[in-house]
Amino acid sequence: MGVFASTDDPGSSGHEQVVFCQDKQTGLRAIIGIYSTALGPALGGTRFYPYASEEDALADVLDLSRGMAYKNALAGLDHGGGKAVIWGDPEKLKSEALLRAYGRFVQSLGGRYYTACDVGTFVADMDVIARETRFVTGRSVAHGGAGDSSILTAWGVFQGMRAAAEHVWGSPTLAGRRVGVAGLGKVGKHLVGHLLDDGAEVVATDVDPKAHDWARTTHPQVALVDDTAALVAADIDVYAPCALGGALNDDTVPALRARVVAGAANNQLAHPGIEKLLADRGVLYAPDYVVNSGGVIQVADEIEGFNFERARLRATRIYDTTREILRLADAEGVPPAVAADRLAERRMAEVGRLRTIHLR
Ligand SMILES: NC(=O)c1ccc[n+]([C@@H]2O[C@H](COP(=O)([O-])OP(=O)(O)OC[C@H]3O[C@@H](n4cnc5c(N)ncnc54)[C@H](O)[C@@H]3O)[C@@H](O)[C@H]2O)c1
Repeated sequence: MGVFASTDDPGSSGHEQVVFCQDKQTGLRAIIGIYSTALGPALGGTRFYPYASEEDALADVLDLSRGMAYKNALAGLDHGGGKAVIWGDPEKLKSEALLRAYGRFVQSLGGRYYTACDVGTFVADMDVIARETRFVTGRSVAHGGAGDSSILTAWGVFQGMRAAAEHVWGSPTLAGRRVGVAGLGKVGKHLVGHLLDDGAEVVATDVDPKAHDWARTTHPQVALVDDTAALVAADIDVYAPCALGGALNDDTVPALRARVVAGAANNQLAHPGIEKLLADRGVLYAPDYVVNSGGVIQVADEIEGFNFERARLRATRIYDTTREILRLADAEGVPPAVAADRLAERRMAEVGRLRTIHLR
């Protein structure tokens, strides 16, 4: 099936549709993966990344689009799961023509897939793509979009963390707790603000010295440590990974002193089995794709005509969803990550089935 080079078989992954897009003049090679439209049009960002091979690009889009189906289902959205990858180095390859060519391929799917920002693509890119397709969200405010999604992502992470705190300590607040934030980027910075407002003590780290400068200037009460290893080993109650994926791995989990993990980073579990290791150590893990869904809630709201207050209220419900997942995990004796998957699958099946009721 691989149009560019490979003979992989995405059909075996359970996806509804996988589309290979090529425009030789601009150098565009994109793959759009639609895992499911059971709940509505697929929604998920476009990752622009220099994959080592077409196989790697395909594997990533299949994985990411499936993840979006679960994330969108639990966020309560009327959207299925999709994602796209553009294969190449955005620094060298990104151009107006390439983005517009890509936009035309998105348009050709007739609304089965809505795109948005991801690693390597930005709000300004969505504005360009929007010149060729209606099926794009995450645009700038100047172009009728909702702008930076990190504000509601951080708000949602905070809500999920409150639910986890309630589950472990009996009260939905971080007041008096020590929270370790790894990554003071767009989301991490907003999250620190919510935590301090709630009365938490914050310990933080970032590889970028500018982020440390920001913390010293903006929130001098935040304690800074050299790196993530030091943060993980610190005497913290909650660990909030807000940098890259794979934060919970065979090195960090045994060293972790926190009782709760809740953070914005995608794909925090480095490999299957880590969720069990966390559970065995008595660490409550609030699944990443549940607590970080504020961003997709925002871009989904933009499709309706963005209303910040409505989107904020939807992101606030991440508290209720996380609570429900943690209770289900206890009731069914499974880690929260497994309970979250079960809840998402239930919604996709129950609500998706309604389409079998015929309407003219
Ligand atoms: N922005 C959103 O709306 C959104 C939505 C859902 C999920 N996420 C995820 O949340 C995470 C953070 O997103 P963001 O938008 O804040 O990204 P960002 O790029 O603005 O911030 C990431 C920060 O992490 C720091 N960092 C990188 N490696 C590090 C390391 N090893 N140790 C400590 N710090 C490190 C970077 O210097 C940067 O300051 C990402 O994993 C992203 O995929 C973001």
